[in-house]
This record gives sequence, C-alpha cells and structure tokens, in this order.
Amino acid sequence: MIDHENLERSLERMDLSAAPPETEPDRQYYFIKKARALVAEQTARLGRTPTCCVVTFGCQMNARDSEKLSGILREAGFQSMESEEADLVVYNTCTVRDNANQRVYGRLGFVHSMKKKNPEKHVALCGCMMQEPSVIEKIQKSYRFVDLIFGTHNIFKFPELLCNMYESDRMIVDIWGQADRIVEDLPVERKYPFKSGINIMFGCDNFCSYCIVPYVRGRERSRRPEEILEEIGRLAGEGVKEVMLLGQNVNSYGKNLERPLTFAQLLQEVEKIPGIERIRFMTSHPKDLSDELIETMRDSQKICRHLHLPLQSGSTRILQAMNRRYTKEGYLALVEKIYSKIPDISLTTDIIVGFPGETKRDVEDTIDVIRRARFDNAFTFLYSRRTGTPAAAMEITASKEEIQENFDLVLKTVQDTAREQVARLTGQRQYALTEEVNNQTLRMVTGRLSNNMIVHYPGDASLVGKIVEVELTENRGFYFVGRRV
Ligand code: 5AD
Ligand code: SF4
Repeated sequence: MIDHENLERSLERMDLSAAPPETEPDRQYYFIKKARALVAEQTARLGRTPTCCVVTFGCQMNARDSEKLSGILREAGFQSMESEEADLVVYNTCTVRDNANQRVYGRLGFVHSMKKKNPEKHVALCGCMMQEPSVIEKIQKSYRFVDLIFGTHNIFKFPELLCNMYESDRMIVDIWGQADRIVEDLPVERKYPFKSGINIMFGCDNFCSYCIVPYVRGRERSRRPEEILEEIGRLAGEGVKEVMLLGQNVNSYGKNLERPLTFAQLLQEVEKIPGIERIRFMTSHPKDLSDELIETMRDSQKICRHLHLPLQSGSTRILQAMNRRYTKEGYLALVEKIYSKIPDISLTTDIIVGFPGETKRDVEDTIDVIRRARFDNAFTFLYSRRTGTPAAAMEITASKEEIQENFDLVLKTVQDTAREQVARLTGQRQYALTEEVNNQTLRMVTGRLSNNMIVHYPGDASLVGKIVEVELTENRGFYFVGRRV
C-alpha cells in the first residue's frame, strides 16, 4: 500500500518519453502516469471526467482486490460511481460455485446493451473465473465486446493493462498460470475509513476435493510480516480501528516464509499496534487451528470474539472424500476446546449439501454437528461441480429432489439453532463499532459487535466509525435492536 503523497513523488520521477521501467512497482507507476494522460485526453474529448464502476462478486479477498483496482482507477483520474452506466466497468468475478459464474454472464448481457449506446464504454473482466480456460474461450466466442481480461495473479499489472486496453481496439487477454511474486506498494481505495481488510497470504494448498480455489488462486504464499505490520500501522494512522486479516487458510500463515512465523505470533504483533482496537481474521481451517491461536485469542483485548470455522460436512466419510483431513469427532472436540477456553466466542461455519455420494445418514451427521457445535450462523451451500477438481469425477447418486430436501433440512436446523443461540445475548451490554446510518428519518444506525453480530440502535452520522456501548434489548433472529448506554 502506498499513500497518495508518496505515489505523487514516485510518479514525478517517471519519464513517459522513456521506455517503461522493468522493475515493479515502478513499472506500474509509469503506467499510472500514462493512464492519467489518457484520461485527460478522454476528459477533453467528452467535456467531463470519465467514470468507472467496479463490481465485486464473491468473498472478502475479492472485495479487497476491488479496493486495489479502485485505488488505481482513482489515481488514473477516473470518477467512480455505483452504476454500470459508467464509461469503464470492471467485473471482479468469483467461480467458487457455478451460480457466481452465471451471474457474471447475466451482467455481461446487460452491459452489452449499454455499450452499444455508449461508444466510449469499456468493459474489463478479472478475478477467479478468468483463471479458467473454458471461461476465456466462451468470452472470446460469445462476448466479443469485452475489452480486457486479466486474472488473479497479475492484478498488480492493472495500470499497464488499462493503458494497453485504451490503445488497442482488440480484446486484451492476459492470464498468468502462477504467481511468481507479491508486488507491494500500489494504491488502494478503502470502502470504509474506519475498517479495512489486509491480505496476509494468497492462494491455498489444501486441495479440498470440491474446491476450485487452489487452481484459480494458486499455491499458498504468505506476505512478509514487516509488510503486513507496516500496512496496518499506516492504516491505524489514517483512522482505521478494525482490521480483518485475510487469507484462504490463515491458520497456516507463515509456513513458507524465510523466517517462519505462526499466525498466532503475527496476531500478537498486530495487537501491539496503537490505534487498532479490533482484529478479525478469515478463514480458518479446522485441521490447522492451534492451541497457540486459541490461547492468543483468549488473552487478547483486541481479537474479536468470533471464529469462522468451516465444517463443510459432519460426516467423517464425506469429510474424507472432501479431503478435509479431520473427522466429525475431531471437529466437535476442537469446538469444545474453543468454548472451554473462550466461553463468549461466537462460532460460524460453512456447510455443503449434496456432495457426491452423500446419503441421508451423512446429512444426519451434519445436523448432529450443527446442533452440538451451537453455531451462531452457518452459510449453507448446494454442492456445485467445478471442472478440474477431483470431486468433479465423482458420481452424484442422490436425486435433485433428495438433495434439495436435505438442503432444506440443514437450513432449517441452522436457522433454529442460530435463533436459540443468538437469544442468549438478549439483555447483554456490548460494544459495537458503528458502521453506517441505517435509516435517516428514524435516526437509526447499524453497528457490529465483537462477535460479528449486527445491532441497530438510535444514532446519526456522527457515530459512524465510533465504538459505543449498547444494550441488546430485542432479538430479531439474526440481528439485534438495542439502545445506547
Ligand atoms: N460447491 C459448493 N460450495 C462450495 N464451497 C467451495 N467450493 C464449493 C463447491 N464446489 C463453499 C465452501 C467454502 C465456501 C467459501 O464456499 O463451503 O467454505
Ligand atoms: Fe477451498 Fe479447501 Fe482451500 Fe478453503 S481450504 S479455499 S475450501 S481448498
């Protein structure tokens, strides 16, 4: 991450009449400067500043990547807007389940009709879906109006690709098979001034048999702790109070560093940064969750009382076929250990229903774990077959109807348990970080508790970004209504 002033200094050094530098990030600074010149030309031609819109699909990692894209577009001189009417639309895609892909194709149809009316309009695609060769083929064949496609490993190259796109009238496709480095010090535009995601690692080496992430995000790479701590220190200086450390499997952070460091040790360092009041992280894999991490959470004043611990299935047999490397009993024992050391923790999870070979008995095991683990919330997904993953070759024996029935049953169990669980907090006093004004006329704001639950309470815009004490007066299922105390 680089701030605006330092970027300006770096841009000043760049000479656009010379060839672009070979080293990063200097090369991209050169192209940011060049993009500025292109945007200035466009501004003169249009008689207004060109607009851009970044649309994000998928997870927190993608949301963070979009902040990087937006930061670059801002530095290039674009005016950002929420609507896809913009002159430049960037779709940052997700491919974890097929419905995410289908949504992107739907949006492309919609944006195509707008492009026909606006000759200045450009459309760029990036993110996980673009790492799949079959997707690229389909876009090249059926969506010829797309101007730029890039992948997850070369997002840092966006300024250069942007310039290439504006100077070419053909579709530019730049996809890398593997990431060879982590490029630091590019601009970022944060969505919230008071909270921010921070990548601590990229990729995943777990190869759960249903999951496409290791293929589209590549091998696991940890960022150096100095870079992470420096970035968080700078964010704290800018007024950020809450940080979310991001990685596909944060529990294995640091294993491939020159000087290995555990995730718990990293958290202890983050804890020392003045100004940071809350620390979150996402996502944990149960097989790598250490006692050291549980104890670090227990002893911390800043680490939030929330752990997202994807279960996927409660059946040991299915877990084995999923290559998750833990058993039903192992997961339950871990959950009990966590509750015994951190009684006020809120556990949430992910569950997949309809994995190949899953029977009623397996679903019963999943339901059993949901009840016994007492999750505050669970995201339940229908299994989606991803080409290229080991599970894609496994036979699905259950009928569509059976799978839907199982899904409904799991969902109902999740909702019932979550409702009972959440009710335990009614009447408690807790601290909430106020995130946004939720209703101007009723003067209500929305805040987030340490355990990640949402609470609405009376207040106005002056509370946004502040941590306030609230009494949770009313439980509305998955959220609370409260009052300030
Ligand atoms: N089908 C359904 N759900 C999936 N997930 C990952 N891959 C698939 C798939 N092929 C879910 C997992 C993961 C979450 C981010 O998405 O539950 O934890
Ligand atoms: Fe996918 Fe498993 Fe890696 Fe999560 S841990 S990203 S589910 S392979």
